[in-house]
Amino acid sequence: MANTTNIKHVTSPLARQTLLDDGLTAPVAGKRPIRLLPWLQVVKIGGRSIMDRGRDAILPIVDELRKLLPEHRLLILTGAGVRARHVYGVGLDLGLPVGSLAPLGASEAGQNGHILAALLAPEGISYIEHPTIASQLAIHLSAARAVVGSAFPPYHHHEFTGPRIPIHRADTGAFLLADALGAAGLTIVEDVDGVYTADPNGSDGKQAQLLRETSAADLAKFKTTLPVDTALVEVMANARHIERVQVVNGLVPGRLTAALRGEHVGTIIHTGARGLNT
Ligand SMILES: Nc1ncnc2c1ncn2[C@@H]1O[C@H](COP(=O)(O)OP(=O)(O)OP(=O)(O)O)[C@@H](O)[C@H]1O
Ligand SMILES: [Mg+2]
Repeated sequence: MANTTNIKHVTSPLARQTLLDDGLTAPVAGKRPIRLLPWLQVVKIGGRSIMDRGRDAILPIVDELRKLLPEHRLLILTGAGVRARHVYGVGLDLGLPVGSLAPLGASEAGQNGHILAALLAPEGISYIEHPTIASQLAIHLSAARAVVGSAFPPYHHHEFTGPRIPIHRADTGAFLLADALGAAGLTIVEDVDGVYTADPNGSDGKQAQLLRETSAADLAKFKTTLPVDTALVEVMANARHIERVQVVNGLVPGRLTAALRGEHVGTIIHTGARGLNT
């Protein structure tokens, strides 16, 4: 008969630790995780900047994505756009908590994803829901060169309190996913050439200068608005795999293609992922 006397003594390097002391967990938890999909390119398509503009902006991007398929396997994630702004306005007026607003915004990002997937359907591309992205992305990308999903992270009723508008939106969701998957890269597609010193479409727009290269640490000190979620800057600081993100102008044909080929055509944002132990 097997000896079961010590069955409660599970051998684990973390068994006797609180998990609250970074010094104790670091030897086990401080290393870089494996890359699940190292060949994957993640592309976030702006909701307001691209999808809301309709066919004039969407069809050229669809054409570009289609032509990229022989070169890259893509996870295409869509942002929410103006309908989310509207639903936030209605929800805030009614006093809805942030955790109720987050899924409303996320569903708008999903709608944009469905639109993009429908246009790419002849290439075998479909929209897939978050649970499928979480557990069956690899098999879907074995069957097709790309899939489309919502860029919103599924915090939903777990969205952090603080600001009434959900802080984890499409840019943050796309980055969290790309980093968790150990993807080859993340490209954020906007309607501006990259990150400027101030909003180029704002009142100080004429003085705004394009930053060809910057870092999450520098953007954290930025006093002005950004073309990406501010929460993205925070999560970038703790990145494990994605060392840089490029923000490109999707209204200029060829920019997305060039970015995926490794060319510097927008703003490169360096994350905090450099220099981790492997
Ligand atoms: N410092 C900045 N540099 C560049 N653009 C900026 C800056 N600050 C604000 N912007 C604005 O950000 C806009 C793009 O971001 P916005 O979040 O509005 O769109 P989006 O990313 O498509 O939306 P979504 O989050 O719904 O996907 C630009 O059109 C620009 O006017
Ligand atoms: Mg944006």
